[in-house]
Amino acid sequence: MSAHLEIAVPDVLERGHREAPPCAFVVFGATGDLTHRKLLPAIYNLALDGTLPEACAMVGVARTELTDERYRADLREAVEKFSRRPLDDKVWSDFSKRVYYVAGAFDDAETFRRLDQRLTELDRAHALRGNRLFYLAIPPGVFETVLTHLHDGGMIQPPHGERFTRVIIEKPFGRDLASAKELNALVGKLLDESQAFRIDHYLGKETVQNIMVFRFANSLFEPLWNRKYIDYVEITAAETVGVGSRGRFYDANGVLRDIVQNHLLEVLSLVAMEPPNGAAADEIRDEKLKVLRALRIPWDDTIERDVRVGQYRGYRGEPGVAKDSVTPTYAALRVYIDNWRWQGVPFYLRAGKMLKRRVTEVSLFTQQIPLSLFGNHEVCERIDPNVITLRIQPDEGIKVRFASKVPGHDVAVASVTMDMKYAEAFGGAPPEAYERLLLDAMRGDATLFSRRDAVEASWAWIDPIIEYFEKQPPKDFPNYEPGSWGPESCQELMRRDRRSWQLL
Ligand code: BG6
Repeated sequence: MSAHLEIAVPDVLERGHREAPPCAFVVFGATGDLTHRKLLPAIYNLALDGTLPEACAMVGVARTELTDERYRADLREAVEKFSRRPLDDKVWSDFSKRVYYVAGAFDDAETFRRLDQRLTELDRAHALRGNRLFYLAIPPGVFETVLTHLHDGGMIQPPHGERFTRVIIEKPFGRDLASAKELNALVGKLLDESQAFRIDHYLGKETVQNIMVFRFANSLFEPLWNRKYIDYVEITAAETVGVGSRGRFYDANGVLRDIVQNHLLEVLSLVAMEPPNGAAADEIRDEKLKVLRALRIPWDDTIERDVRVGQYRGYRGEPGVAKDSVTPTYAALRVYIDNWRWQGVPFYLRAGKMLKRRVTEVSLFTQQIPLSLFGNHEVCERIDPNVITLRIQPDEGIKVRFASKVPGHDVAVASVTMDMKYAEAFGGAPPEAYERLLLDAMRGDATLFSRRDAVEASWAWIDPIIEYFEKQPPKDFPNYEPGSWGPESCQELMRRDRRSWQLL
């Protein structure tokens, strides 16, 4: 069954066309994977849409010696390979004239002197009005060096007045509460919080943004969105890929730091938050923060009961991974939110690599009906609960499952599903997360970026869980086969509550 959609969204269209002001977009880590795979294709797609301001220049900064011409050629290849839409020669030729490169080490003040000089020239050449958006696409170990040089080199303007300076900081934002606080303190010393854009690319996904629209632009669902009607909630982020070439990085972090602390908790807080007073960045971020602060604190005995971890067979042979690694590549958790709305409703979260299907989705299961009018008591037990599924990716959409009479002379009840697919409703694939996030950072809209207090709240919650498994590493690793749904113990986490994961 599919949904018929009438599309009339003037407000959204208006918001979508808010123009970005002129600026220089400066990427540290200009020759890295993130720049090639995500940032550059995102900027190029914005240019293709005509959303990028006319007065805009991109400056790559990295150690490798390259000319502007050579860098442009590299980027062209990246667009050809990774852009969601094919390269258009005319758009590329206009865009690439605004791409520049500065070579130098990040710990050398001379690099920053040359960068400043280049930016001053570009301000004049492209009428950039002195606006600067810096992107730290570099390992966290170098954040401090780069930020301090930018500051000492006079490239960070205070947030008042006509010009803006903003800094986008890539995850991981710390590796525990203490290091996140340290990094936040450094950022707080050199920047105003309004200038710091901590990126979690999940927030830029269309379907993640739609969680709020689905909840707060419909009167149909929100009344159900609480402990009275919802029995439990499931959030899955499953990947089919392994760690690929990121073995070294991943082995030092694992799934709890890589996905749960950020992406899963961001999604969870959007699903569970109270309606904000308005759509301003801080009104929304205040409500999300309240969810994180209401998460039930994990203790050793509850971690043992409510958290399962796994590692896929073959992980220890991946390049960069220790032969005896005990880093988890899979985690399943039962989590409670101790507030008025959600008290007693379990949220089951799971994330992992090398699983059977790539799927990220949120499902809310309603309570059983109180009494079956169609047959005896057992029938009532057998009628599946209603489920609202928000499919974040792939095959983006929303599904609602409900019971229906099976046509015929007797009364038989079956579950049917109403399925809205973005591709059918709106046509084409949604934009990439980084497109929206870069545009928002240029516009100065921090709604989809993580705030200092929320980052600290999420580490405060997850730290005891990470410590627990670091102190007593699981002895049964590797404990799941690539291409499966994870270790058997994670099924048991649901089974003992007389439930099972929706996708198995
Ligand atoms: C990143 C993680 O943040 O998100 C990766 O570091 C993971 O390990 C990726 O593969 C998943 O993102 P997406 O958008 O492909 O779901």
